[in-house]
Amino acid sequence: MMDYNKMFGGDKDLSAILVIFGGTGDLTHRKLMPALYNMLLDGLVPEHFRVVSIGRRDKTEEEYKKEIHASVAKYSRNKVDESIWSKLNDMITYYRFDFREYDGYSMLKEYLEDIDKRAETKGNRIYYMAVAPEYFKTIVHGLHMANMAKTEGSWSRLVIEKPFGKDLNTASQLNHKLLEVFEEKDIYRIDHYLGKEMIQNIMVLRFSNSIFESIWNNKFIDNIQISLTEKLGVGTRGGYYENSGAMRDMIQNHIMQILSLVAMEPPVNLKTDSIRTEKLKVIEAIEDISPEFLRENVVFGQYGKGVIDGNPVVGYREEINVPEDSGTETFVALKLYINNFRWAGTPFYIRTGKRLGTYGAEIVIQFKDLPNILYFKDSNIQEPNLLVIRIQPNVGVFFQFNTKDFNSHHGIVPTKMDTSHVNPTQGNTPEAYERLIYDILRGDSTLFSRWDEVEAAWTIADKIIRYREQSNVKFPNYDAGSMGPIKAFELLAKEGRKWWNI
Ligand code: BG6
Repeated sequence: MMDYNKMFGGDKDLSAILVIFGGTGDLTHRKLMPALYNMLLDGLVPEHFRVVSIGRRDKTEEEYKKEIHASVAKYSRNKVDESIWSKLNDMITYYRFDFREYDGYSMLKEYLEDIDKRAETKGNRIYYMAVAPEYFKTIVHGLHMANMAKTEGSWSRLVIEKPFGKDLNTASQLNHKLLEVFEEKDIYRIDHYLGKEMIQNIMVLRFSNSIFESIWNNKFIDNIQISLTEKLGVGTRGGYYENSGAMRDMIQNHIMQILSLVAMEPPVNLKTDSIRTEKLKVIEAIEDISPEFLRENVVFGQYGKGVIDGNPVVGYREEINVPEDSGTETFVALKLYINNFRWAGTPFYIRTGKRLGTYGAEIVIQFKDLPNILYFKDSNIQEPNLLVIRIQPNVGVFFQFNTKDFNSHHGIVPTKMDTSHVNPTQGNTPEAYERLIYDILRGDSTLFSRWDEVEAAWTIADKIIRYREQSNVKFPNYDAGSMGPIKAFELLAKEGRKWWNI
């Protein structure tokens, strides 16, 4: 068992009720409940803790728990131990309530206060918005009307899933509404990538190894590539994805967060705001993105039919709830510059897409070549030094450097050092949601996005989305199972570079 108390400080009072709006939804079944189960297994759930799952559907508590049990068995990284499950079972209640009806909130309030008395949860609340985004404002308003958001002598935190707005304007409006009711410090905007172990490891790698930090800049690094590639298509989420596309689904949030961690300056300390402030500066330093710049530096794609792992799959336009003339992008490749002293002139290449030939998330740091003299003067071709931060499916670091080829008299070969291992679905690596829920309980918002970070990311994303809406790309333009449109390869090839698939 992991000693999290030692790692994160176990002296805080974590008593609380987790109130899940959307208790019957996909997120609760696939992520939240399995995470709670694993936290319980790891001794991370406080004694005075309860979960109230809110749903509109008419079902008995018993039925609800049976469904949750099945989901935990299906999605948990650890096998279900019935004695642990029974503890979780005792903590959960199902509360039927249509959160669009404001009258019901005061009853919910009484219900929660009643639990406080029995379970000593001390009036502390985590309100988790696991619902469609159009309900965020409604629920927050309901909480406000019933005086549930701010209480004397206890804390209330609001957890909000993406999408956080559809553009800068709607995101600002939403944020404004939230701030009328909750303070910024109590708003936890989830970006589940920040909960992944290797994403947290980016800062550790950079700021605890002299060998990396001293060369982490435009003098030594030729380019940086961030690739989040998926084999999955949109599945049943066509309706959501049509309003989102890869720009809103992956780039505005996950990729911008990764980019800022890779490129940020060392923070003055490890406090939440010091880290977030440095991350923000990276996004603010992204070179102004004009339509002229984008014409040369962005590629949009949409998958057509193809073959994934030997199985034929349909194209995006044939997916459920997707119009047959959809102009939504399922792939984006982009080059960016970060205009500060550390990075000016170093290109950052970003790529993400659905229904690609490989599944993975990786950051590749390509170091600059040495002059082509000495060993590289005549016959040997110089392979660059590469540092690869593997986020998934493998977790760890890969490093490529040149050594003598012992099989020949004067050959030079790249040697590959790989510390990465397959991330076991059942095993000891905590899943993102476990870490994130635990941090919410502890009141640590380091791994969540601050409003100004979200705002800066929207400013960038909006410009690219606007450009996409105006440009007339012919879709579909890549086959499912390929690695995206040809133009995405040309984006690097025209500068003498290539995407690394290590
Ligand atoms: C989500 C997106 O935020 O991230 C999905 O909405 C995407 O479309 C998913 O598939 C990828 O996350 P992960 O953790 O599976 O890499």
